[in-house]
Amino acid sequence: MTTTTGTDWAAWQESWDRQQEWYMPDREERFRIMLDMVEALVGTAPRVLDLACGTGSITSRLLRRFPEATSTGVDLDPALLAIAHGTFEGDDRVRLVRADLKDPDWPAKLPYDSYDAVLTATALHWLHSEPLAALYGRIAGLVRDGGVFMNADHMIDESTPRINAAERAQRHARMDQAKRQGALDWAEWWQVAAGDPALAEPTAQRFEIYGEHADGDMPSPAWHARTLLERGFGEARPVWASPSDTLLLAVK
Ligand SMILES: C[S@@+](CC[C@H](N)C(=O)[O-])C[C@H]1O[C@@H](n2cnc3c(N)ncnc32)[C@H](O)[C@@H]1O
Repeated sequence: MTTTTGTDWAAWQESWDRQQEWYMPDREERFRIMLDMVEALVGTAPRVLDLACGTGSITSRLLRRFPEATSTGVDLDPALLAIAHGTFEGDDRVRLVRADLKDPDWPAKLPYDSYDAVLTATALHWLHSEPLAALYGRIAGLVRDGGVFMNADHMIDESTPRINAAERAQRHARMDQAKRQGALDWAEWWQVAAGDPALAEPTAQRFEIYGEHADGDMPSPAWHARTLLERGFGEARPVWASPSDTLLLAVK
């Protein structure tokens, strides 16, 4: 949709998806399974928290599939949030909140104190394990009993180094090939964003906050499951995996 600012927000969503898919060709499949599990465990009209929402990738897929759902998107990046605001303008099912997930008080900024589902993708590897474990405790406090948390991310099992190296080499060879055919990587995508008058200022701000990318850890699926159990969830296990990524589901 092109709005009064003249910015084509749908085009920004498209280009964000292409850039993310360069890293994760199975990204849509991952979202599909995530929403299957939402439906299976909390139904088709859930109140969702889209954690580290970026442009609102989870929220847009959620609302397309479940029109009766509502979503709160929370993120720190002013440029990605600007795209989210442009995309969901006028849709009263969506609330967007700017907060730092490392700030212990971020839940106080949310419009609700309880959610049926907290969903996140490709984001929590921006945190180190210790703050992530603390964040899991806060998320457990936000999920209602019987509700779910799902984290889709790059999770590395260090006990399989040969598998990991082979998978990584193949993935990077494919990425190099896609790059030769014109795919934009993270840094190039941000250069294009900086050139759009609607995004130039928030893009400069996000570089002040993060630099190019925050530094974090990628612990194993077993670490995520164990930590979620320790921090208040009743069950946790992977419900989907690709050679590089895992979708971890926890039930409160
Ligand atoms: C690669 S993007 C993924 C966005 C979206 N979930 C998706 O799948 O398209 C990672 C997001 O995590 C957010 N993020 C990282 N660290 C954060 C923090 N400490 N507080 C809030 N958001 C954070 C970034 O701003 C960014 O929007």
